[in-house]
Amino acid sequence: MKKTLLTLTTAVALGLFSMYSYAADPIVIKFSHVVAPDTPKGKAAEKFKELAEAKTNGAVKVEVYPSSTLYKDKEEMEALQMGAVQMLAPSLAKFGPLGVKNFEVFDLPYIFRGYDDLHKVTKGEVGASLLAKLEPKGVKGLAYWDNGFKIMSAGKPLKTPEDYKGLKMRIQSSKVIEAQMRALGANPQVLPFGETYQALQTGVVDGTENPPSNLYTQKMHEVQKHATLTNHGYLGYAVITNKAFWDKLPDDVRTSLDEALKESTDFANDIAKAENDKALEAVKASGKTEIHTPTDEETKAMQQALAPVHNEMAERIGKETIDAVYGATGFDPSK
Ligand code: LMR
Repeated sequence: MKKTLLTLTTAVALGLFSMYSYAADPIVIKFSHVVAPDTPKGKAAEKFKELAEAKTNGAVKVEVYPSSTLYKDKEEMEALQMGAVQMLAPSLAKFGPLGVKNFEVFDLPYIFRGYDDLHKVTKGEVGASLLAKLEPKGVKGLAYWDNGFKIMSAGKPLKTPEDYKGLKMRIQSSKVIEAQMRALGANPQVLPFGETYQALQTGVVDGTENPPSNLYTQKMHEVQKHATLTNHGYLGYAVITNKAFWDKLPDDVRTSLDEALKESTDFANDIAKAENDKALEAVKASGKTEIHTPTDEETKAMQQALAPVHNEMAERIGKETIDAVYGATGFDPSK
């Protein structure tokens, strides 16, 4: 009996029981993001934390840092590659600076008719092959999380393409979105998400585009008098990790994290549309932003003005990537 006890004590001291060593020294995953906690991404990150910690019995501790509290857009990518954070969920529009331009296919105007088209890409082979393109950069793509379709906002009504002429529009760091704004005669300005509210408030920029949930949770509606439900483009995320970190995880831990990811991805994609609908209602109820629903004619004029962006950006994105997306959805907006 005495001998067994002694052996047990020694084993524990040496950290031979994995449960014990996990509890004493959990694997920490810092998950940094730039939006508010009360958004589809913010809620999904919290759900991932809850599931990952429960499924690994505390062997993994997930620290979620929302609202750019740890890093802004560009810095968070660098931090992930350096291993200073372990997980991110940047918007698909932010992978160009990493050298993976194919993701900008998601930014092409009017490429998806709705979430059904989108899911044919993100839940299928095309989506998986895009995530695989991150690996040579030391980044592993784990999942796609939905947000929503973007609406345009500014200090003035935006009905026809002419209304955008000369406006300074804040954009994410995507060359496709830059081309889209130029096609409208606007002047695109890349700014980190966390600086957008202030830039709108102080007049550094006149307008922007975002799904309603981002507009509302950043209080942008308080400094944008008009918004138009253009739904001209999609904004969503790739959940990514540092590949070296992920590959070194114990197999059982990685399996549990994969399960946590799968469940939090289903959660994210289930709530995204409702969260955006709710945010739009809240913007309307605030009475601060006048919401315009475009007529069919106005939508046609916008589609026509933005159609050339698909060809213009084909070389940058890769024609085969664009064709693969058209093929997956069965929809080519030029036809
Ligand atoms: C933006 O910069 O507008 C978005 O990418 C923010 C986000 O993460 O939804």
